[in-house]
Amino acid sequence: MKILIFGFGLIGKKRAETLEKIFRKKKKDILIYDPFFKKHKYTKLSSLSNINFNEFKLIIIAVPHYQQFQIIKLLTNYKNILLIEKPLGKNYVEAMKIFNLLKNNSNNTYVGFNHRFYDGVQKIKYILEKEKDEIISIRINMGHGGSPQDKDSWKKNISLNGGGAIFDPGIHLIDLIRFFLKNQKISLIKKINWKGLWKFGGEEESVLLLKSKKVSIIQLHISLCKWLNEFSININTTKFNIILTGRTGNYGPQIIKVYKRWSWIKNPDKKNVPYFYKKFDEDKSFFNELKSIINKKTHNNCSLRNGLENMKIIDLIYKSK
Ligand SMILES: NC(=O)c1ccc[n+]([C@@H]2O[C@H](COP(=O)([O-])OP(=O)(O)OC[C@H]3O[C@@H](n4cnc5c(N)ncnc54)[C@H](O)[C@@H]3O)[C@@H](O)[C@H]2O)c1
Repeated sequence: MKILIFGFGLIGKKRAETLEKIFRKKKKDILIYDPFFKKHKYTKLSSLSNINFNEFKLIIIAVPHYQQFQIIKLLTNYKNILLIEKPLGKNYVEAMKIFNLLKNNSNNTYVGFNHRFYDGVQKIKYILEKEKDEIISIRINMGHGGSPQDKDSWKKNISLNGGGAIFDPGIHLIDLIRFFLKNQKISLIKKINWKGLWKFGGEEESVLLLKSKKVSIIQLHISLCKWLNEFSININTTKFNIILTGRTGNYGPQIIKVYKRWSWIKNPDKKNVPYFYKKFDEDKSFFNELKSIINKKTHNNCSLRNGLENMKIIDLIYKSK
């Protein structure tokens, strides 16, 4: 099975390594198209002319998202599995154009939102679906400080990246909310932004208060100025409090704890002991996501339509005062 990856930066490399190590794909069957990256152990594709893209069973687009559109224009007749790393395009207008270009192959097209596939996040999804419990509130915090060199990267150039913290990494949090709430409509109640350190034009720290049809308290706190990386999810339901911290790597191990309502009545000596606890030391999100996409487990995957909906919410948040 031949695979083509556009872009061999942070994520393209991660995808190639995951396919090679975990799926035992041969290096020669993983082709990389990245005109700016000269040396790697995979097969280099140096030109795109006369390529029959349908020879590839899977194509992954892992280029800076301002470059996605011009690549996607080449793939309008592509019929196999296509994975476009998040976000879908640079803005909502571009995302709609991409959606229209790919709509004939929309059943095979996915947008890469690996956060859905962390083991702890999958566990949360499982609990929410199994218990069918009423959610009172959701709070997700995510922040990192990057490194001083980021100032010169496309990721901190608003005309290339398309936004600030709300867009990246905030779109992951929007996707998680929609994932947990089975695509319920989300609207913004209030946003508070701060900027002044990176000075690239976008918001550098943001608090968003949102609501959905069934959950009236959704709070997101996103920061590009966190000197201790943070990723946490806190979901309060009428039966449980679910607390997840960490994302593995330099966010610390992922730990999920679930506390049951008034559990201390039956177990007074175990008042602060979680009803469920699990620690994950390894980031399996990229593996889990690729596996799910290759096996077309549509329940978990971020479809092209959902990739577009995430962009629509980002657009609504940016346009609101
Ligand atoms: N899921 C996640 O957690 C996550 C994390 C980081 C980035 N991303 C997304 O993945 C995508 C890539 O991000 P990255 O961090 O790997 O960026 P990067 O800058 O590290 O790498 C991008 C690579 O694409 C190459 N490239 C640029 N233009 C190209 C073109 N026209 N054709 C082929 N190759 C081209 C560059 O040479 C570079 O090697 C972005 O859309 C980003 O938003 C997702």
